[in-house]
Amino acid sequence: MDLYIDTANLDEIKQAHDLGVLDGVTTNPSLIAKEGVDYAQRLAEICEIVSGPVSAEVLATDAKGMLTEARERAAIAPNIVIKLPSTIEGLKACKALADEGVRTNMTLCFQPLQALMVAKAGAFLVSPFIGRIDDVAQDGMELIHQIRQIYDNFGYQTKLLAASIRHPKHMLDCALAGADVATVPFKVIAQFMQHPLTDVGLKRFIEDYQKAFGSQ
Ligand code: E4P
Repeated sequence: MDLYIDTANLDEIKQAHDLGVLDGVTTNPSLIAKEGVDYAQRLAEICEIVSGPVSAEVLATDAKGMLTEARERAAIAPNIVIKLPSTIEGLKACKALADEGVRTNMTLCFQPLQALMVAKAGAFLVSPFIGRIDDVAQDGMELIHQIRQIYDNFGYQTKLLAASIRHPKHMLDCALAGADVATVPFKVIAQFMQHPLTDVGLKRFIEDYQKAFGSQ
């Protein structure tokens, strides 16, 4: 399973990269706005740190505008993946970019037929937003299971990227469901190696050893 970090913050990206298990980065306009930086400049900075896929979202809502922005963003670095909305216009742009050999991440996916359509158009990644589905009292994980089944039924190569992950249980459920990738905020990644019994056990090992042999 691949692990991406969902942020445009360079410190968080560096810290996650230093863990040695980071496979890519996803950004979106809201995350860039939070940092208050130029989008293209920040993408270039991220691509200097991470060699895996870095998702760069377009702001245009029509296919022609998306393609113009996509080509500009794709020229920033070879590992840029173009993030497009899962709309009719996004679908057209996805197909055109796939035909040019440009990888896409189809974002804002909230129902399984969006995932089916973008797979047919040759998307590299599809991003179902599970946290936002849970936010409206529906089941985000159900969408992950449905997409996994559709992709496996027909052998689609589009990678299932679980997005809008809010807590470790989301990550565990996505791993068990066979999501190919999860994109996760830094504060949630930091929780993946935590367990109170690990801390207690480690403390006890050190104390027992020191009692027997002194501290050295
Ligand atoms: C994915 O690519 C999105 O940037 C992200 O996962 C959205 O998460 P949110 O619903 O927590 O904003």
